[in-house]
Amino acid sequence: MTTLTVNGQTHTVDAPGDMPLLWVLRDLVGLTGTKFGCGIAQCGACTVHLDGVAVRSCVLPVAAVGERKVTTIEAVGDTPAGKKVQTAWRQIDVVQCGYCQSGQVMSAASLLASNPNPSDADIDAAMAGNICRCGTYNRIRAAIRLAAKEA
Ligand code: FES
Ligand code: FES
Repeated sequence: MTTLTVNGQTHTVDAPGDMPLLWVLRDLVGLTGTKFGCGIAQCGACTVHLDGVAVRSCVLPVAAVGERKVTTIEAVGDTPAGKKVQTAWRQIDVVQCGYCQSGQVMSAASLLASNPNPSDADIDAAMAGNICRCGTYNRIRAAIRLAAKEA
């Protein structure tokens, strides 16, 4: 059994230690906002936070989470940076199909939490690992700039 803190709640799950956090969240905890894309840390769809830092949950064994607090897209709006990002996302109307977007929001929220006034280079570096097949990149950058202005 593994005990995790997810979105402020404690969950004890019957998962092998090498099970990726993504599948623990989706299949055992029941939080399906975090998406599977590539499974090899190349697309960012599965991004969640560990103690506020963006990580790829598809390649993170649940045993490696330890005491760190997991935050998913379902609760990132409760954090100051996450709330600003989600508000800006709606104002800019970023989303197309939506599949990549929970990962995009999680990466953007992690960036703004650690760097409230990022340069364009900072934004590009933080978001480089999040792929969008709908090509919403320009609106993602605009939304992050807007969210930073609201900081
Ligand atoms: S599913 Fe994790 S990075 Fe693509
Ligand atoms: S909005 Fe469709 S993949 Fe990004």
